[in-house]
Amino acid sequence: MLKGKRVVVTGGASGIGAAIVARCVRSGAAAVHVADVDAKGLEERLSEVKGTTKLYPKSLDLTDRTALAEWLLAADEKTGGFDVVFNNAGVMSGADTLLATPVDAMARVIDVNLMAVMIGTRIAVECMSSRGISGAIVNTASTAAFNPMPADPAYAASKAAVVSFTESCAPLAELHGIRVVAVCPGVTDTAIIPYEAAWLKPVLAAIDFLTPDEVVDVMEEMLAQSAPPSFIRVDNRAKVDRGVDH
Ligand SMILES: NC(=O)c1ccc[n+]([C@@H]2O[C@H](COP(=O)([O-])OP(=O)(O)OC[C@H]3O[C@@H](n4cnc5c(N)ncnc54)[C@H](O)[C@@H]3O)[C@@H](O)[C@H]2O)c1
Repeated sequence: MLKGKRVVVTGGASGIGAAIVARCVRSGAAAVHVADVDAKGLEERLSEVKGTTKLYPKSLDLTDRTALAEWLLAADEKTGGFDVVFNNAGVMSGADTLLATPVDAMARVIDVNLMAVMIGTRIAVECMSSRGISGAIVNTASTAAFNPMPADPAYAASKAAVVSFTESCAPLAELHGIRVVAVCPGVTDTAIIPYEAAWLKPVLAAIDFLTPDEVVDVMEEMLAQSAPPSFIRVDNRAKVDRGVDH
């Protein structure tokens, strides 16, 4: 599915984004434009992947809308367009109650998790449609879109908005031949998880974590479909379920 493709990835220095980049390289993608605010982490991750895929790393804070737009337009120019865009980077607010969350942290959650996804989708559609590319856009949402999250309401709201935005992009398939989908993972073993947070510990104790690779498997399944659903959940399995399976 990714073989020979020109791909764009945000948040590629860690977790799910790093797994997307590694999968692209393993699959023989032609080129990957990958951005992250963590330039050192990105350099380290890219040094770990080996293949013939041309890698274009970019140090970028997605809250800088102008820089985000310029990066995408430059990527389009550099590889004569792109076929698949993963709007993947995300942050949590870092607090554990609404009242403990600084307004700036809420705004950053919305800027990274929602605004960058909407801008990335809009510019990708513009670039793809102007070149007649029937591409695909994968937005990383979360099961937090559906499950209330009192410890981080801004995060849950940002992910619900990503699902809603993505659903509203469905007509782009008919208009431009561009599929826009949201993948909504449950708890995945990455750096974003505040493992020591008291509010999260009971949840973490009750479930098996997903791996970043399992999430990327689902993303690839969505890309393989000619008419995918607007969003898909990738739920955690409850630890007690294991007894039933075996
Ligand atoms: N890990 C989970 O349990 C889980 C569950 C559901 C959804 N998600 C979503 O998956 C996506 C990837 O997260 P992850 O779990 O791999 O976490 P992660 O922390 O390992 O990776 C997130 C990456 O995004 C980058 N990033 C953050 N802010 C940025 C900014 N302003 N500009 C550029 N890059 C920025 C980080 O530097 C990091 O490399 C996020 O959208 C997250 O909300 C994660």
